[in-house]
Amino acid sequence: MGKIVLNAIDIYKSYTNGANRLNVLDKFSLPVMEGEIITIMGQSGSGKSTALNILGTLDKPDSGVLEINGVNIDNLNDNDISSLRNKDLGFIFQFHHLLPELTALENVMVPTWIKGDYNYETKAIELFQTLGLIDRVHHLPSQLSGGERSRVATIRAIINKPCVLFADEPTGNLDKKNSLKLIDLLGQINRDFSQSIVLTTHDPDVASIGDKQYKLENGSLIL
Ligand SMILES: Nc1ncnc2c1ncn2[C@@H]1O[C@H](COP(=O)(O)OP(=O)(O)O)[C@@H](O)[C@H]1O
Ligand SMILES: [Mg+2]
Repeated sequence: MGKIVLNAIDIYKSYTNGANRLNVLDKFSLPVMEGEIITIMGQSGSGKSTALNILGTLDKPDSGVLEINGVNIDNLNDNDISSLRNKDLGFIFQFHHLLPELTALENVMVPTWIKGDYNYETKAIELFQTLGLIDRVHHLPSQLSGGERSRVATIRAIINKPCVLFADEPTGNLDKKNSLKLIDLLGQINRDFSQSIVLTTHDPDVASIGDKQYKLENGSLIL
């Protein structure tokens, strides 16, 4: 039996606009095992980003339980949640938000500087090597292609060895070739580091890398 690294149980989330209430997540549950790739397909507006933001502690549910590494995050204060997020969770977004003034290497090191650890340069450079970006280490984001930027953002997301890596439509603004490259890369990271990954997409080819492939419909997941 593998270890559960993240467990979401009966999550509810709704948005209210004036008199209208929109139930986005409705008894949403998801266990994530160590080393498992979970993919979530859903139409635009089905709640994929809402779900990932809640699983990643970036947003709070109306009700429900979220446990990360066995810890119920309701028992943590905001500071503890921020440091858990920086240490244990990694994020790749469609628009990767690399800092424009920093080089690729510096961007990747930011999460380790936040931890107060200044000894990660060798490890970062190793990852650039592994991921085929060694000659791009000192480039600024503006000097990289879209595919390279997404790979740099991927290194940044895994530098702290998070227990779960979240990817919200990571291939959404990449062409087919770069999508496939990014998906290969995520598969490689999953194999090499037993990295659990939760990924949303509306592309069935991307979803097919999932060990478990869910659909988000009417606020909850179906296999
Ligand atoms: N902050 C918000 N306030 C009100 N409605 C929101 C907010 N965020 C998202 N929504 C609505 O919730 C639904 C789900 O959004 P989202 O999670 O972004 O879906 P997806 O990522 O699957 O496209 C959509 O109908 C969206 O308009
Ligand atoms: Mg979305």
